[in-house]
Amino acid sequence: MSRLVWIILVTIICGATSLYEEEEKELIFLQFVFRNGFSAPQQLYPNDPNEPRRWEDGLGELTLEGRKQMFALGKELRKRYKNFITANPREITMQAAVHPKNKRSGLSLLASLYAPTDFWEFMPGLPWQPIPIFYISAREDKVLSPLHNCPTVVERMEKLVDLYGTDTVLDMYKQQLKFWSLNSGISIQNWNDVVSLHRILYAEKAYNHTIPNWVQKYWTELECLNDYAYKINFNDPKILKVVGGPILWHLVNSAVDKTNGDFNHTKVMAYSGVSKSLYSENYF
Ligand SMILES: *[C@@H]1O[C@H](CO)[C@@H](O)[C@H](O)[C@H]1NC(C)=O
Ligand SMILES: *[C@@H]1O[C@H](CO)[C@@H](O)[C@H](O)[C@H]1NC(C)=O
Repeated sequence: MSRLVWIILVTIICGATSLYEEEEKELIFLQFVFRNGFSAPQQLYPNDPNEPRRWEDGLGELTLEGRKQMFALGKELRKRYKNFITANPREITMQAAVHPKNKRSGLSLLASLYAPTDFWEFMPGLPWQPIPIFYISAREDKVLSPLHNCPTVVERMEKLVDLYGTDTVLDMYKQQLKFWSLNSGISIQNWNDVVSLHRILYAEKAYNHTIPNWVQKYWTELECLNDYAYKINFNDPKILKVVGGPILWHLVNSAVDKTNGDFNHTKVMAYSGVSKSLYSENYF
């Protein structure tokens, strides 16, 4: 689950009087949501043989691979919507979560989605044009950073993590938890610790950093538990409502506003979000 999953929601509005008559349908508005591209882990583990400086962009930041992924995604979308999208930057509004990796993901995607055609080229030969990205502080951003402004949900998630911590699945893996703790130097006690260790090792593997032999021994188990941890964090209606609700509400409302003649120049709305709010959509 923590692998590079793109979740794209595309809202197509029909300008036709009847939704059932194919030939009258016309695309007038496109909305899509995506998470950041590949990013470096937030931290390394205590016994990590790798140096943090191997992540040139910094820990927790979007990597070169991540920027290439976003650029490729923008290119693909431009191809898919070639009859709808022009190169006029006025027609797109992009909103990003406040973290630099989300802003840079958005910019990398715009670099290809809105690469300038002749008229929009402002430096001859430069296949790029400046396009603004909007963001607000995480504390205020219910749509793209929902966990920051609802302490109750964070608390509830912690409770769930505790609740399912002992005497359930984790208990069956006691031996592995001990093995990972001893070898990594992180004390692996609950689901979130499992996710943290997996996140680091997964990124280091993908980037061909040094992987000690012990990692391979229970790798399949670590991957399974990591996937299961997301279920535990999100398989709860109250959490889903707060974490995934605002973005769905926002998408639907923007679509309604558009049909009512608001933001006439905007044809595309793009949201560069954090993975947690997007994962939650899987559970609706
Ligand atoms: C890691 O190594 C594999 C296999 O040699 C290669 O395909 C991949 O591009 C490398 N990854 C990075 C990020 O350099
Ligand atoms: C947007 O376009 C619609 C239809 O062309 C028009 O009725 C409406 O007045 C326009 N709204 C604005 C704010 O320009």
